[in-house]
Amino acid sequence: MNKALRRPVIAGNWKMNKTPDEAKALIEEMKPLVADADCDVVVCVPYVDIPAALEATAGSNIKVGAENCHWAESGAFTAEISAPMLKAVGVPYVIIGHSERRQYFGETDVTVNQRTKAALASGLKVILCVGELLEQREQGITEEVVRYQTKIALGGVSAEDLKNVIIAYEPVWAIGTGRTATAEQANEVNAAIRACIAELYGKDAADATVIQYGGSMNAKNAAELLAQPDVDGGLIGGASLKAPDFSVIVKAASV
Ligand code: 13P
Repeated sequence: MNKALRRPVIAGNWKMNKTPDEAKALIEEMKPLVADADCDVVVCVPYVDIPAALEATAGSNIKVGAENCHWAESGAFTAEISAPMLKAVGVPYVIIGHSERRQYFGETDVTVNQRTKAALASGLKVILCVGELLEQREQGITEEVVRYQTKIALGGVSAEDLKNVIIAYEPVWAIGTGRTATAEQANEVNAAIRACIAELYGKDAADATVIQYGGSMNAKNAAELLAQPDVDGGLIGGASLKAPDFSVIVKAASV
């Protein structure tokens, strides 16, 4: 973290977990534990949990996010949710381009770009996920992959809109596997993403962009990862479903 330049953001990605009642209970447990956070705290929850999460977080320092949105404003897209719908219910954040969407649901760099632009046009803050597969890391093309993903995802995004973009570097091989990138690996790739942003938007914009790490971040390894200068927070899956663990990560970002 470099707190002189950027306020860290710790975001939970609950994925397909928790009913509305369970969401409310988890947030109630989290609230006192993260109340004095010196970072932004976000919980990204399944669509059906959004009303319960907004109600439970009202008046607290926890913000709510969705886990995806469609690129169209409305139309014949059965089961999809649009960015204006999320805006209308009062959700400030949305994750776009998570590797599980890319792996299991046919998400491409182009649709990630379309969704990103739609979310930004609706005034949402985007947590944009990029990250390489294990074989890509082994081939030594990690930087090329994340630069390619970042450039396509941000195509047509203005410098003004970039202020509402957080980038989450999530190496696919580290997600849900218990295998974390080392702090050095995380910092190296985050720095490469920042250099890419600098090429696209200039150094000041790059310095202001929050770049998280995600992939088996937990209560034990968070402090070391967050101590890296280019790691400005975390996108946390499994550990965000346990209030004590999540709060330890929030505290590690608050020092
Ligand atoms: P885990 O923290 O469970 O590895 O998940 C990371 C992730 O995918 C967050 O979006």
